[in-house]
Amino acid sequence: MWLIKFVRSWHLANQLLACKSIDKLISDSHEEGHALTKSLGPWSLTALGIGAIIGSGIFVLTGTAAAGEHFEIPSILHAQVMDLISSFLHHGTFAGALMHGRPAAGPAIAISFILVAVACSFAGLCYAELASMIPIAGSAYTYSYATLGEIFAWIIGWDLILEYAVSNVAVAVGFAGYLKAQLAAFHINLPDAISSPVFAGGKWTGAYFNLPAFLVVMILTVLLVRGVRESAKTNNIMVAVKIGAIAVFLIVGGMLVKPANWTPFAPSGFGGILTGGAIIFFTYIGFDSVSTAAEEAMNPQKDIPFGIIASLIVCTILYVGVALVLLGMMRYSTFTSGPAADAPVAYALQQLGAKPVYRSIIIIGALTGMLSSLLVFQYGQTRVWFAMSRDRLLPSIFSVVHKKFKTPHWSTWIAGFAVGLPAAFVDIGDAADLSNIGTLFAFVLVSFGVIFLRRRQPERPRGFKVPLVPLFPIISIVLCGGLMTGLTLITWIRFVVWLGLGLVIYVAYSRKRSEFCPPSTQAR
Ligand code: ALA
Repeated sequence: MWLIKFVRSWHLANQLLACKSIDKLISDSHEEGHALTKSLGPWSLTALGIGAIIGSGIFVLTGTAAAGEHFEIPSILHAQVMDLISSFLHHGTFAGALMHGRPAAGPAIAISFILVAVACSFAGLCYAELASMIPIAGSAYTYSYATLGEIFAWIIGWDLILEYAVSNVAVAVGFAGYLKAQLAAFHINLPDAISSPVFAGGKWTGAYFNLPAFLVVMILTVLLVRGVRESAKTNNIMVAVKIGAIAVFLIVGGMLVKPANWTPFAPSGFGGILTGGAIIFFTYIGFDSVSTAAEEAMNPQKDIPFGIIASLIVCTILYVGVALVLLGMMRYSTFTSGPAADAPVAYALQQLGAKPVYRSIIIIGALTGMLSSLLVFQYGQTRVWFAMSRDRLLPSIFSVVHKKFKTPHWSTWIAGFAVGLPAAFVDIGDAADLSNIGTLFAFVLVSFGVIFLRRRQPERPRGFKVPLVPLFPIISIVLCGGLMTGLTLITWIRFVVWLGLGLVIYVAYSRKRSEFCPPSTQAR
């Protein structure tokens, strides 16, 4: 009896740590009915990256991250994990941690943007190396399957749902907020009951459904089902429009800057800069989605690394500019709550009397930015599901490709409802924090993957190589892990619950269908 138990647990351990062969991953992707069209070049990939990166984050979170947050009732759930750890190490108790909210970064949020960009660059280099040697749909999920083993691949695939789906929920809600503000400027007032979050700040708002947030996701779903070539073209145009709109903001807003507003520059010192960084990390989420398009890239070995790094550089320059201008226009403390917190760019322009025509150009550009971000994330989400289904960890319906459009249409529709429906109910803040922690965790695992694969398969060709391995991946792990500790305890608890739920599904369904499951226990 004990022998059977021993053999079973041995098989299980083998399966959990089983890695897919990279050659098999590449050949599977060419299977009849499961192959995607190769249509994306370097500039389309860069546009795809910028399209994903600049979404609602820069237009919504910059103000609140600079202003800080204050809850009337203190709670350990609002404390940052880093603060809790440091309080415990110094005083042997959590009591010294800040439980009323987070400190203000002030105009120094511009420095947070630069620091987070540095962290993302290291993670981006790791993504680029793995993407250029494993040009397969699925991003970090696929890389972990080839490097760390099935259980890690499952965890990361499940975790990526947080990055793509939950962040898109946040972006769709941000989109609805700005759309409403712009329509109001045209004297079209949408009723709150059908155009605002149903649940916000832990309370019911009295609204029934956020219709604009739901509809925008559904319209993009139709576009994505019709094919990546069309969607990428649409995305290129939207990216050009939003960069133009940000440029207009830098000029129009720049003329309204009063340098006195930049003092004090960092009201809470480095602590504020770090905490601000953990929030505005959201604004960078997306550059890695370029790697999810590896299977549809014409020359993945060169173009994927190019797309990732180029999109990161462009966005950092724009973000630092927007932060300095916005916080030079009005004092950081203005953006604590109300319309100033919900739509800070629109608010500052309106309060300082910018001409309505410029205001509209900027807000419509911002809305366009959010649209392209939504588009790329919906796209990335379906490609991760597609890859997991092709490996039999998710039902086969997720990897069925449409006969005419050659897109995974079932995944696309399911992703549409999975994002559109929650977006019709929730508020932006919680969704953004949850997606930050999920993404940072994915970055940590990808960086580990680079170190592992350099040891296991040093001879395999790499279109792009991270310099100074293992130093650079370790820096990436430390920086991303550090940002994770800047998030609150409640975010960590939600994240752990999410991962636990994923493990239940893995044990109950996916493990038994995997190709690595011993034939005696494999489900058909
Ligand atoms: N980076 C994306 C945004 O800021 C998610 O909206």
